[in-house]
Amino acid sequence: MARLSKEKPDPARAAARLPATPALAPSILTADFGRLADEIAAAEAGGARLFHLDVMDGHFVPNLTIGPLIVETIDRLTGLLLDVHLMIERPDLYIERFAGAGADMISVHQEAAPHLHRTVQLIRDCGSAPGVALNPSTPLASLQEILPDLDYVLLMSVDPGFGGQRFIPSVMTKIAGLRRHIDESGAKAKFEVDGGIGPGNIVAIREHGADILVAGSAVFDGRDPKGRARALADLLQPARRG
Ligand code: DX5
Ligand code: ZN
Repeated sequence: MARLSKEKPDPARAAARLPATPALAPSILTADFGRLADEIAAAEAGGARLFHLDVMDGHFVPNLTIGPLIVETIDRLTGLLLDVHLMIERPDLYIERFAGAGADMISVHQEAAPHLHRTVQLIRDCGSAPGVALNPSTPLASLQEILPDLDYVLLMSVDPGFGGQRFIPSVMTKIAGLRRHIDESGAKAKFEVDGGIGPGNIVAIREHGADILVAGSAVFDGRDPKGRARALADLLQPARRG
């Protein structure tokens, strides 16, 4: 969401930087970057609630993607929230720049950030909502001590690095486990699931408890991103929860 670049970060506002849920978050990773404005507008018209932006550094994951410059460009193209997924080593070095570029939500990987309380506080101090991402093989228990400090959790359902991979089936149990844990512990965090989500599994993932559902290739591969986003957003409606 557009934030004046000169505006001072306001940590108290960071929690408001999350969407109403359930929410569809198209990932632009496989969008046509030559027609980015059209792709963004189409997904937005199809019912996107926010955009998921995948930042990769070629070290933490074997792929390179976008930096703050493109985030800032996308911020000018849409009024929707921007959810920046940092798949990078040493994320603390770049958080301020991504926040300044318009990131409403910023997640760092548990596997890449050894001092999570400091990193999460830095994200909050920069005015964005902090999240922690877990790879499919990283246990939920690794969140135990940081969960109360988070606005959201990002559960990966593929190994990060590329769009268009298949959902790893065992993650479904992990999704249900995180829902239970959040509900029982009274934590305020929402949670997002990312990777391999499409029309064939989005309802089950929602029913297992996910709040925000990321879909990349299911929206942007092929023609009609508006129709594809609309179909996915409609599938999220019947089981709506707060
Ligand atoms: C994977 C990224 C995902 C990916 C989702 O490393 O974090 O956000 O773009 O794309 P699909 O939906 O195609 O798996
Ligand atoms: Zn992602």
